[in-house]
Amino acid sequence: MIQLREIHKVFPDGTYALKGVSLELKPGEVVALLGENGAGKTTLMKILAGVYEPTRGEIIIEGKRVRFKGASDAFKAGIAMVHQHLSLVEELTALENLALLKGPLLKGVDKEMRARLEDLARSLGFEVDWNRPVGEMPLGMRQRVEIIKALYLGARVLILDEPTSLLSPPEVKGLIDTVRRLKSEGRTVVFITHKIPEALSVADRIVVLRRGEKVGEFGPNVSPDMLVEAMVGKAKAWSLERRGGPGEEVLAVKDLWAYERGRPVLQGVSLAVRRREIHAIAGVEGNGQEALVDVLVSLRRPARGEVKISGKLAYIPDDRHTRAMVLDLPLVHNAILGVHRRFSKAGALDWGRAREFAQKLIEEFSVVAPGPDALARSLSGGNQQKLVVARELSKGADVVIAHQPTRGLDVATTEYVHKLLLDVRNEGAGVLLVSSDLDEVLKLADTISVMYRGRIVITRPAGSISVEEIGKAMAGL
Ligand SMILES: Nc1ncnc2c1ncn2[C@@H]1O[C@H](COP(=O)(O)OP(=O)(O)OP(=O)(O)O)[C@@H](O)[C@H]1O
Ligand SMILES: [Mg+2]
Repeated sequence: MIQLREIHKVFPDGTYALKGVSLELKPGEVVALLGENGAGKTTLMKILAGVYEPTRGEIIIEGKRVRFKGASDAFKAGIAMVHQHLSLVEELTALENLALLKGPLLKGVDKEMRARLEDLARSLGFEVDWNRPVGEMPLGMRQRVEIIKALYLGARVLILDEPTSLLSPPEVKGLIDTVRRLKSEGRTVVFITHKIPEALSVADRIVVLRRGEKVGEFGPNVSPDMLVEAMVGKAKAWSLERRGGPGEEVLAVKDLWAYERGRPVLQGVSLAVRRREIHAIAGVEGNGQEALVDVLVSLRRPARGEVKISGKLAYIPDDRHTRAMVLDLPLVHNAILGVHRRFSKAGALDWGRAREFAQKLIEEFSVVAPGPDALARSLSGGNQQKLVVARELSKGADVVIAHQPTRGLDVATTEYVHKLLLDVRNEGAGVLLVSSDLDEVLKLADTISVMYRGRIVITRPAGSISVEEIGKAMAGL
């Protein structure tokens, strides 16, 4: 039905993102798109969705060559994309966001549209608070709004760019059910992911990109090892060594309480992190982790309680776009955000040294980027994250707060960030790892706590708690 033929994409800064990729999509098919950070997955799909024009190559739909001048042309051809970073207006309600598709909001939202949207939501089994500002919605719900938007516009081909990286495990299950339902209706779904088990559970076909080229196409029975090898070549195995045991306390939290619109989001949280300790807070997202981190980094004042941090703090936030980078500034600016004082000379910034520093981070942490002058926006999602991790871990901090530090990272880069976190721990920092990824928690933690409904319900040394116990605590049992 749809063919991408020999697609090339060269960006204005010279980045050769796609080197002759061909791909076919059939009705009623789920295709998973895998590949390392920067492999070209998002770029390829943005070309199909009309966001970018290919430098060379063609798109053929039902035998006819098409040229998309923008996303709205692709919409008309039945192709819609739900982006890696969602693109709704946060101040508006879900309903207003969708009404915007019809033009300015002057006349409010018409009843007929609302009825159709509610029908659509019901048929998918989605719950959506239509009148709630999008900015206040949990990420899973925002994503559901985007999917409804795409289907409302009549999408026959739905592209989901890393749709599960923002979701909790039950939400992931819900999304996978939705994908199956869309498939049974004869729609095509392209599912970009870094998680091999997800790809295997949902896809009819798995396509692997590497450095802008298609390096493999597999059926659903391919082995995970083969996929990893196609993605990264021979994976480099880092030694994940733990050296030395916990020392003095560097972070102490006592009896924290916080409220949101009258409801408690933190209910008496106490915890401690010592040098040479990774203390992991496990739990399904939305159980108070966000409020806890906000208090620790002084973005929120607690109603009650105490936080004591000894020494320098590094912070790897879960949302790099709003908290860690300025997308429209070059990497050199982004590399020194928050550490800029190190680069001052007679009251002005020493840009020469700042550029050297940015270049060093790019090299040491293998950030795929043309150089310090590239705009942060032009980096692939995973490479943006690498730069943030690089900057924060280069601070020589005593306390590191890492909130979902490997979200959106490919298999190899995830391993690398894990090694870096262990390195700073071994060198004497205390790390508070807040993660809903249980594998990550089990691999890295010296101490594990579980958060549920604003409380820490269990804290134990990692060796003395089973996966079952953690799972139960996460579910509030
Ligand atoms: N607007 C742009 N300008 C310049 N280079 C770009 C732009 N968008 C993407 N790139 C580059 O193109 C390459 C492919 O990026 P793309 O975002 O498609 O990767 P990806 O496979 O989606 O990675 P990730 O898993 O990290 O999201 C990267 O080297 C990236 O830096
Ligand atoms: Mg991407």
